[in-house]
Amino acid sequence: MSKERVTFTFDGVPVHAQRGQTVAGALLADGVISWRVTRLGGRPRGLFCGIGACFDCLVDVNEDRSVRACLVPVQDGDQVRTSASVGAADGLPLDPSARLRHDQAKRPQGSQKA
Ligand code: FES
Repeated sequence: MSKERVTFTFDGVPVHAQRGQTVAGALLADGVISWRVTRLGGRPRGLFCGIGACFDCLVDVNEDRSVRACLVPVQDGDQVRTSASVGAADGLPLDPSARLRHDQAKRPQGSQKA
């Protein structure tokens, strides 16, 4: 992978990545683990299969709605947004919890060492 850096925005916040990284890889490297919510229940979703098969990682990139973040290489200047298509289509408000970060994720009880 290239050591050349690119800068894109995620919901308006600048994020730095290596050229050639996918959008999902760049978001995960920045600590973001979820960037959309499910149609029913509003549960956070991000990377699942990582190979373009499950469609869990949908995100909006520039003018393109609901693209698979695990397949799309991030480009310098890209405007990446929490996917609004799913919730908006159903008349559901976009839940800010779609943007979970590592440090916000709940861990099962007993999973942390004392
Ligand atoms: S993570 Fe499954 S399609 Fe992207």
